[in-house]
Amino acid sequence: MISQAYLSQLFSLENRVALVTGGSSGIGRAVAGALARAGASVVVVARKETELAATVDELTAGGCRAAWVSADLGTRDGVRAAAEEAVRAFGEPDILVNSAGINLRPPMGELTEDVWDTTLAVNLEAPFLLGQRFGPGMAERGFGRIIHITSQQAHRAFVQSGAYGVSKGGLESLARSQAEAWSPYGVTCNTLVPGFVMTPLNARLANDPEKVEALAARTMTGRNGLAEDFEGAAVFLASRASAYVTGQSIFVDGGLSVH
Ligand SMILES: NC(=O)c1ccc[n+]([C@@H]2O[C@H](COP(=O)([O-])OP(=O)(O)OC[C@H]3O[C@@H](n4cnc5c(N)ncnc54)[C@H](OP(=O)(O)O)[C@@H]3O)[C@@H](O)[C@H]2O)c1
Repeated sequence: MISQAYLSQLFSLENRVALVTGGSSGIGRAVAGALARAGASVVVVARKETELAATVDELTAGGCRAAWVSADLGTRDGVRAAAEEAVRAFGEPDILVNSAGINLRPPMGELTEDVWDTTLAVNLEAPFLLGQRFGPGMAERGFGRIIHITSQQAHRAFVQSGAYGVSKGGLESLARSQAEAWSPYGVTCNTLVPGFVMTPLNARLANDPEKVEALAARTMTGRNGLAEDFEGAAVFLASRASAYVTGQSIFVDGGLSVH
């Protein structure tokens, strides 16, 4: 009993509200589930309604509080509409997780302005706009947690990084700018940095067993990442326990980046 009270004081998300973009698939879905099971009321935002509804049904069937908003985060109007619809479910969020992301991977010489614009809009501008919408309110209330999901490609080029790597590098800088602005008011801003994770984003690569094995061999743990590997780190960064951790990039990559 004593240990449960201690763990709750550190990690419980009871009475917190979380907004998770990309919360209907892969890493975002695992993170949304983890925050909800740790006690938060969670709103997941993405485009496809079937996946959104399935995610929320699974969570509510397990006794969690969850809701979904369908929106295209690739446009400024879409982001604004998503934010306003999201707060109607459980109120202003205490925790914002930006996991929605796309990786279109054209070779650099064929990278069109369209691909550049779309990639930067979803991966970098949407997190910026959501931060502008929710960060000041978090600061005013004296508690907030902003968590971005970036990539090893924020740190090095890997399989035609192109616009994607640029967007993720920018996202890590955004986290530091947000941390500088809002940490004095109880709002921490950090990024979780995946290596190679078996999710729908990587379906093409994941279907090539030789490549999958070669990538696993580059880690220290000897395997590629799974979406659930992000659950504990996300709960930590969303909780009171991480109050003194801000502006950081935390690698959840089985040691890939240091091998
Ligand atoms: N998997 C990896 O190996 C890996 C490695 C490094 C970094 N990451 C990063 O981790 C994050 C999650 O990736 P994942 O692997 O979990 O990918 P995923 O399974 O493909 O999930 C991506 C999520 O983003 C949503 N999304 C995409 N475009 C959107 C848009 N325009 N508007 C709203 N929602 C949109 C998708 O839903 P809809 O399609 O329904 O909109 C989905 O919920 C991404 O930021 C990715 O860059 C992943």
